[in-house]
Amino acid sequence: MSIEFALDQAAARVSAPTTLRRPMGLDQLPTPALVLERAAMERNMRKMADHVHAAGKGFRPHSKTHKCPTIAKLQVQMGAVGICAAKISEAAIMLEAGIPSVLITSPIATPTKAQALNSLLGTYPDCELLLVVDSEQGLAALQEAIAPERRLGLLVDIDLSMGRTGTREVDTMLRLIDAVMNDVRFEFRGIQHYAGHLMHIEDYSKRRDKSLASWSRLDEFFTALAGRGISPEIVTGGGTGTYDVDVAVERLTDIQVGSYIFMDEEYRVLASSGASRFEDFELALTVACSTISQPQSKTITVDGGYKAFASDSVNPVCDDLPGVEFRFAGDEHGVLILGEGQQEVRLGQVLRFAAPHCDPTVNLHDYYWILEDDGLVHSVWPISARGCSW
Ligand SMILES: Cc1ncc(COP(=O)(O)O)c(C=O)c1O
Repeated sequence: MSIEFALDQAAARVSAPTTLRRPMGLDQLPTPALVLERAAMERNMRKMADHVHAAGKGFRPHSKTHKCPTIAKLQVQMGAVGICAAKISEAAIMLEAGIPSVLITSPIATPTKAQALNSLLGTYPDCELLLVVDSEQGLAALQEAIAPERRLGLLVDIDLSMGRTGTREVDTMLRLIDAVMNDVRFEFRGIQHYAGHLMHIEDYSKRRDKSLASWSRLDEFFTALAGRGISPEIVTGGGTGTYDVDVAVERLTDIQVGSYIFMDEEYRVLASSGASRFEDFELALTVACSTISQPQSKTITVDGGYKAFASDSVNPVCDDLPGVEFRFAGDEHGVLILGEGQQEVRLGQVLRFAAPHCDPTVNLHDYYWILEDDGLVHSVWPISARGCSW
């Protein structure tokens, strides 16, 4: 499969929402179905936009969470400085939908991916495409592939302790910036520092202190840049877990928040500033499942398992059934453990569950079923970048 074929396939995906001819109740959904409460999501978006703007910062929300151009457009309307994409294919979907500025937050190092970037630059010349770079090999692949007339903005990705992507060496950063500045096809735009391993630290003050310490450990890099007379235009990073911490970092220009629009169980179980649960943002995303079988009186089986919920740690939770435990029972099923007095769950019910981890759960579904304040689903938004992990 050539990279052009893959790019064409991405560009051909449907991204426009569909309004249903007749609004439908949750009990009519083809379960398991991903349900998005539009008003709750928009309140989350507004809260984040107001928060970052009050702090004098920008936000560059991550589309890896929603993979949906309709949502990215709402974020842009609310003042996002751009949209992040995890990979080239996700960026392709966003560019095709007309998102004006996209930052790819993962570096590339192969000729194939560099050629894909070259194609994107040619196809969307009026959009701003930015990429992180963290190695001389990665930059060499770009130097080989990018056509002379094309322009690519590059940010140097810096790692301090996560150990995923980014350089830890000041010298490598400087060498990369020198090479970028000496090549008309590239423009040095700034620095990315994402400490994702800190986002889910349960204790709020530990999370805050570690995140602030991580940002201040960048001093060495910024001193070296200042020595060259360079003041980066963009300093981007952070996520939902540290959204109220990182905006205090002076040199940060924008935060890359993703999950705040939906929230999930992995975030809700953390402490937040002043509360034992992280409920600064509302749960806007749920997976609706139907109860389909009851082999024993104290359990009831629902039609959603590992193919409906992605889980790296916690299990799905139904807020309407406090104390009822969900246990995965394979790819297509989950079993609810009913305690004393919880026998009111009956066969044929539709129940909604908070996803353990929203990003990979979204990636399992084709659509968001959009639930409005009247309790009915009125429209369907395609998750156009579903499966776009390259
Ligand atoms: C590079 C990068 N930035 C930002 C985010 C957004 O994080 P969150 O969903 O915690 O807001 C992620 C999520 O994994 C990420 O990988």
